[in-house]
Amino acid sequence: MCAETINAVNKHRQMTGKGVQTMAKAVKNDGRQIIRIFDTTLRDGEQAPGNSMNIEEKLRIARQLQKLNVDVIEAGFPIASEGDFEAVKKIAQTIKGPEIAGLCRSSEKDIDRAWEALKYAGEKGRIHTFIATSDIHMKYKLQMEPAKVLASAVKAVKRAASYTANVEFSCEDAVRTRLPFLAEVVEAVIAAGATTVNIPDTVGYTIPFEYFNIIKYLKDNVPNIDKAIISVHCHNDLGLSVANSIAAIQAGARQVECTINGIGERAGNCSLEEFVMILKTRRDILPFASNVVTEQLTPASRLLTAVTGIGVQPNKSIVGANAFAHEAGIHQHGMMMEKTTYEIMTPESVGLLASALVLGKHSGRHAFKKRLEELGHDLDDVKLNRAFDRFKDLADLKKEVFDEDLDAIVSDEAREEDLYKLDHVTVTCGSFAVATATVQMEVNGVTVRTAELGDGPVDSTFKAIKKLTKSKSKLTQYNVGSITGGTDAQGEVTVRVSEGKHSVVGKGASTDIIVASAKAYIHALNRLHSRQKRFIDAV
Ligand code: KIV
Ligand code: ZN
Repeated sequence: MCAETINAVNKHRQMTGKGVQTMAKAVKNDGRQIIRIFDTTLRDGEQAPGNSMNIEEKLRIARQLQKLNVDVIEAGFPIASEGDFEAVKKIAQTIKGPEIAGLCRSSEKDIDRAWEALKYAGEKGRIHTFIATSDIHMKYKLQMEPAKVLASAVKAVKRAASYTANVEFSCEDAVRTRLPFLAEVVEAVIAAGATTVNIPDTVGYTIPFEYFNIIKYLKDNVPNIDKAIISVHCHNDLGLSVANSIAAIQAGARQVECTINGIGERAGNCSLEEFVMILKTRRDILPFASNVVTEQLTPASRLLTAVTGIGVQPNKSIVGANAFAHEAGIHQHGMMMEKTTYEIMTPESVGLLASALVLGKHSGRHAFKKRLEELGHDLDDVKLNRAFDRFKDLADLKKEVFDEDLDAIVSDEAREEDLYKLDHVTVTCGSFAVATATVQMEVNGVTVRTAELGDGPVDSTFKAIKKLTKSKSKLTQYNVGSITGGTDAQGEVTVRVSEGKHSVVGKGASTDIIVASAKAYIHALNRLHSRQKRFIDAV
């Protein structure tokens, strides 16, 4: 953003009489333009199947985003449900540093509700309102004439600006919007008080050359464009979200909306870690920088995986398990001679600490807590104590405890108070026995127990759990893997269960894979329950 834009934005804020927010610096000391990072992991990311999070989980992610030093955290969609509202409110009350945004449609009810949650962030609260502007969306989804859409957009921005000077407006499906109409809407919403205008590629359809030209068109054809920050928000349906975001900043966009691990609707959003590492690694040809503390990228990625149970593919750029692994002999030889032969960025720069033999059974609570913090896990005392007990038990069973083991323990222990809890599972099985599982668990605080026969130990265990929880859900996926090497490694089980339109993932880890399976299944059932509850709240 140029100095002129900052002045314009500040002036607008003064004019609205809502108090002037000190704008973050727009240019680094070395002259690079700062690209504002707007993280939407907790909103667009959370909308993706299997990624739903409860309030506490959202708060943990928000704390990590604060450590990453993103500029804006989009914390949720307050009108969507009670749970979403409470999460946005809690994050607005708790997180210091980044601005906190809440999404809302262009209706008064949505905007009022959003501000009710966001007001706790004061000047750092951002109302993000949107309406679709493409012909196809206006005709079929909104069933509104363009003039009415334009009027709704302006009305929404004015309403939002009556609460705060920090207003973002998005033209949903901007990429498929007729350019003259897009320019008209952008000009009108800026005049109405939007200080950020977002030009999303909602359906992941554009390519870098085209997107560059759309942003350039707006720069050249919207008279008041310098009074707002241009933001971009790219979906990854054609695998181009990061490339498109880079093209957009070259054309003048100064805010990029992205998510940790690239999660989001359908194929996801622009991946935060990829985008910021491109800026850092190709500073030779890109005169831009972000404020992100890149050493916090790996902890952020791992934390999100721990919370949602959804891992990244091993070859994922920056945070995949193989992203810094050099397997081929010729590469290893080159690396031994000179690291830069095959390494364009260091593992340390993205916070990848050597997977060390962290702690043994004689390690103390202090060392355990410190390592968890290095890995991005901040637990309160109660959860920390439970996790520490689990660690001690594991250290008794296993000679070596690795970071991955700690991630698994934390993701088990950091969960909110669950409806269902596993007490014990015992299985008899083998080549000459009908598998029988006896399961004891707590259902809403009441201890219940049953035994079931099944087609193998996992089947009988799941049948028993299903009976005790009276769940009507369907198990649609079951995977078992090993967290680290060795026969004493913890088994990690991932399951997906579905009921109606809800589908969730559950994870569990243990040195005993039947226990891991039971935990994963129960985790999924708890998540399904809270997802269904949120949905009912919203109706
Ligand atoms: O993809 C999209 O267009 C969005 C908007 C609501 C910003 O998520
Ligand atoms: Zn989106």
